[in-house]
Amino acid sequence: MGYFSVEPLSLQGLAVAVALLLLALCLRSRRIRRPGEPPLIKGWLPYFGVAFNLQKDPLGYMKFLQKQHGDIFTILLGGNYITFILDPFQYPLVMKNHKQLSFDVFSRKLSEKAFSIKTSMRNEDLAHDLHVAYQLLQGRSLDILLENMLQDLKQMFEPKLLKTTNWNTAQMLTFCRSVVFEVTFTAIYGKIPAGDKEKIISELKDDLFKYDDKFTYLISDIPIELLGNVKALQKKLINSLTSENLAKTQEKSEIVQRRQEILEQYLVQDLEIGAHHFGFLWASVTNTIPAMFWAMYYLLRHPEAVEALRDEIDCLLQSTGQKKGSGFSIHLTRDQLDSLVCLESIILEVLRLHSYSSSIRFVQEDFTLSSENGNYCLRKGDLIALFPPVLHGDPEIFEAPEEFRFDRFIEDGKKKTTFFKGGKKLKFFIMPFGFGTSKCPGRYLAVIEIKLLLFVFVTYFDLEIIDKKPIGLDHSRLMIGVQHPESDVLFRYRAKS
Ligand code: HEM
Repeated sequence: MGYFSVEPLSLQGLAVAVALLLLALCLRSRRIRRPGEPPLIKGWLPYFGVAFNLQKDPLGYMKFLQKQHGDIFTILLGGNYITFILDPFQYPLVMKNHKQLSFDVFSRKLSEKAFSIKTSMRNEDLAHDLHVAYQLLQGRSLDILLENMLQDLKQMFEPKLLKTTNWNTAQMLTFCRSVVFEVTFTAIYGKIPAGDKEKIISELKDDLFKYDDKFTYLISDIPIELLGNVKALQKKLINSLTSENLAKTQEKSEIVQRRQEILEQYLVQDLEIGAHHFGFLWASVTNTIPAMFWAMYYLLRHPEAVEALRDEIDCLLQSTGQKKGSGFSIHLTRDQLDSLVCLESIILEVLRLHSYSSSIRFVQEDFTLSSENGNYCLRKGDLIALFPPVLHGDPEIFEAPEEFRFDRFIEDGKKKTTFFKGGKKLKFFIMPFGFGTSKCPGRYLAVIEIKLLLFVFVTYFDLEIIDKKPIGLDHSRLMIGVQHPESDVLFRYRAKS
């Protein structure tokens, strides 16, 4: 996670945080590597460790450490000692040793701090029931979510299509935020009655993204009370999503209805229920939005990709007897969207390039991790992490890994699923959604939503990028998920005539 963001805090917050950090760093930074432990890199800064090097160029720095120390090493990062496993053939070690390497301990700490989810995470039955409910993000339930998203997009864009064929100029990230937030919120949490809709959606969205901007601090050791208005924002968001307030929305998804039933069965306080909904809402939009941004950005910078996608879409529309025509008339099923290999390849390529999420586990006891390349002693209280960006940027696996190639995941007209390293076939070659027990339960929804949005934009609109300069990554959400662009990008769109 971004334990180590180095952006400025408020002055008062900074002073207290510095005092706390000084104390913590004295205690935490003194460590000496014991025999049998992985190489230890503490950096030159107490407490922060290698945070600055990593945030400046995460991939370059990790590759540098890998070259120097091999595929397993421990770094000091924002007061935490994290052992990284970089060899994808060794990833299964984390699953194999799940008793010693706990996701629950790590996620409980995070949920408590970031979403104020308290008692419930300690109740194993509740956690289990919520986990089982994730099934409602797949299969038939996902078909219904897709249908609802399509209807919502129709309502959102039909007036624009009918009204004008003039160019509209917009900032791409802001545009993706608005569309993805509204479509996702409505599909999952239900429709807000017409009169209040715009105001409620816009306020909720703005609050959520203000909160997300501070997320790296939230998962650091800095107390939330020192983070300016963050605690107040957290309270406001939780309050907006209590059962009482959510009762105002109509046609909620099956997953939210089921979660509500489970939460009511186990919890007494409505604010605790609101905290759960808040965490779920945060998870459902904060990665999908930048992923959608990058997909649009690369499409508009690569006319050959748009052309290939248009051909693929035209074929589908023809084979299903649909015409583009005027107005928003298309109908799409999940199987149809999933049959579009070019569309899928574009999304996978974007996630390969810009997803920087890490799978993190808490080391519950001192123990020896036995790998093919040797044995490593791990210490209780440390963290262990996989860092897939190194896999995604490996030139042995992906030729010219820094380039966007829209057809990288297509082979003989089908989805390409075989990639090799050192002559050996890889089980894990793209991992934007995590791993094992903690793998993202919303991954199918995220991908189908991005597919649907790209399909609609390419089918009904002419799109052009205005800012032509290449754009870098903002790494302040490093290890949390898909990275944001360093700045927003102007583009224009108009309904196809
Ligand atoms: C491109 C979009 C998305 C990306 C890249 C993404 C990525 C991730 C990652 C990396 C994790 C943590 C996995 C781990 O620690 O091993 C995660 C967890 C989670 N995601 Fe997603 N996600 C996306 C969209 C969604 C959507 C649309 C939803 C919900 C509708 C969702 C719901 C969740 C939930 C609830 C968790 C926590 C699971 C748990 O700990 O039980 N995500 N996601």
